Amino acid sequence: MTQPNDTHTEHWHRRLLEGKSALMAVLTTVAISIGGLVEIIPMYSLAAGPQAIAEVSPYTPLELAGRDVYIREGCYNCHSQMVRPFRSETMRYGPWTRAGEYAYDRPFQLGSRRIGPDLQRLGGKYPDAWHYEHMRDPRSTSPGSIMPTYGWLLTDSYDVADVTASVQAMQTLGVPYRDDEVAQVAESLSKQADGIVASLKGQGIETTPDREIVAMIAYLQRLGVDGKAAVAAAEAK
Ligand code: HEC
Repeated sequence: MTQPNDTHTEHWHRRLLEGKSALMAVLTTVAISIGGLVEIIPMYSLAAGPQAIAEVSPYTPLELAGRDVYIREGCYNCHSQMVRPFRSETMRYGPWTRAGEYAYDRPFQLGSRRIGPDLQRLGGKYPDAWHYEHMRDPRSTSPGSIMPTYGWLLTDSYDVADVTASVQAMQTLGVPYRDDEVAQVAESLSKQADGIVASLKGQGIETTPDREIVAMIAYLQRLGVDGKAAVAAAEAK
């Protein structure tokens, strides 16, 4: 029995290309390189990451400390930080997210699951005391919530040296913190934390400025604030 492509019926493609292994290897490499270069060249010719929007400024040291706690506790496993450009999303959360809002977010906290609501437009939605109670026991503010409790944030303290290291790390990554800001992390921390402690006190809660909950509240109240300002500024034009 003869095989279908035995002998002289051989196709030209097989004879001139596939039959010549060296030539075939060279041409395959050329073909793959084109695909690779199309992806690689823009990475080098464009500036790294999204460009900041004028209204977006870096996190304060206290907010950065809260953000580190957010990452440590894995909040991103249940919360996204990206409002998608769909009506159902913008009606629920607010203006959709622009890429430039993440310019100083390293690594960004887009998240991939929404077991809880998106947090990108959270800042200013609730009073500080709400967040305090919600972290202590989510059921106390949101009946039936399946969010875990994070009671230790109310008792544990952040470390000023760690926060300084975080600010320096961000500076290395290109976030525009000035050297004098890095030198004054401790002052900046206590100034902003005192404000939050005072606001909590006004709502009947006693705590101290060194607590992780204070940093977490600073971070949560900052989320999306710059982004909303940027959208408002763009709409006013
Ligand atoms: C197991 C999933 C899960 C984890 C982990 C989780 N959450 Fe939640 N979160 C939820 C759910 C569900 C809700 C909605 C009910 C509620 O308000 O508690 C929620 C609500 C919230 C809200 C209120 C949002 C709004 O717009 O009303 C905030 C703020 C919040 N979570 C912050 C956090 C922070 C900070 C962490 C990490 C320390 C965290 N969550 C971890 C599930 C989670």
